[in-house]
Amino acid sequence: MSRESQVPTAHAQKVSMNTVIEAQQLHKQFGAIHAVNGLDLRVEQGEIYGLLGPNGSGKTTLIRLITGLLRPTDGRITVLNHPMPNKAVLANIGYMTQASALYEDLTIRENVNFFATMCGRGNGQVDAVIELVDLSDRADSLVRTLSGGMKQRASLACALVHAPRLLLLDEPTVGVDPQLRAAFWDYFRRLADEGVTLVVSSHVMDEAERCDRLGFIRQGKLLAEGTAASLRQQSNTPTLEAAFLHFAT
Ligand SMILES: Nc1ncnc2c1ncn2[C@@H]1O[C@H](COP(=O)(O)OP(=O)(O)O)[C@@H](O)[C@H]1O
Ligand SMILES: [Mg+2]
Repeated sequence: MSRESQVPTAHAQKVSMNTVIEAQQLHKQFGAIHAVNGLDLRVEQGEIYGLLGPNGSGKTTLIRLITGLLRPTDGRITVLNHPMPNKAVLANIGYMTQASALYEDLTIRENVNFFATMCGRGNGQVDAVIELVDLSDRADSLVRTLSGGMKQRASLACALVHAPRLLLLDEPTVGVDPQLRAAFWDYFRRLADEGVTLVVSSHVMDEAERCDRLGFIRQGKLLAEGTAASLRQQSNTPTLEAAFLHFAT
């Protein structure tokens, strides 16, 4: 046995610690639409799990089932060992929605403060998270006066202010310029290193390399899972786009 195989990687150590999300045969139907269709998922503490799939594949529905905002029509979903929905667990979840959930007529600081107060955390962290997303100089600007990228950053600050253990980010970098996108990913990695678990959805493949593990989702089903490298290898394809098509057909 080589020395390397005896020494667990940092990632292996992290994932053995705790399962944060577990879904078993999860279903969500909206009338005739089967948005999530028999999905099994397991995400471990400190992982960045990328949920990749085209528009309409069920990413947002799955994220909303994880938060407990939606109830499954069948199957089980547990978060931090509690079946969802569960209000107490919600306090441990940060959720950045696909569309901005900010109040346009409040300032950035007022928005972040509002989220902090709602989660019962006081406002000690408000200035710190605003600083973190590099918006200190705009903290007293009304949200409606901000650019798209600034709104994304302010949304991230709101999702983070109560120091959640699980962060659900629904297409967080759509409309974000490349420099800010890189900053977001550096920040996501830092959070994961601190033990925060992240689920990041995307319909583009170019960010997938930054995730520890990926799940390809289509028509509410998980087609394949693994690291970017293993998905390319399993499908014998050079790119993740090609790998996705391989598993989808
Ligand atoms: N509240 C809803 N009522 C009816 N249909 C819905 C609802 N939410 C999502 N859907 C449908 O479920 C499917 C998956 O949607 P969604 O989870 O938003 O996908 P994605 O986030 O991957 O784009 C789509 O066909 C969508 O129209
Ligand atoms: Mg969506």
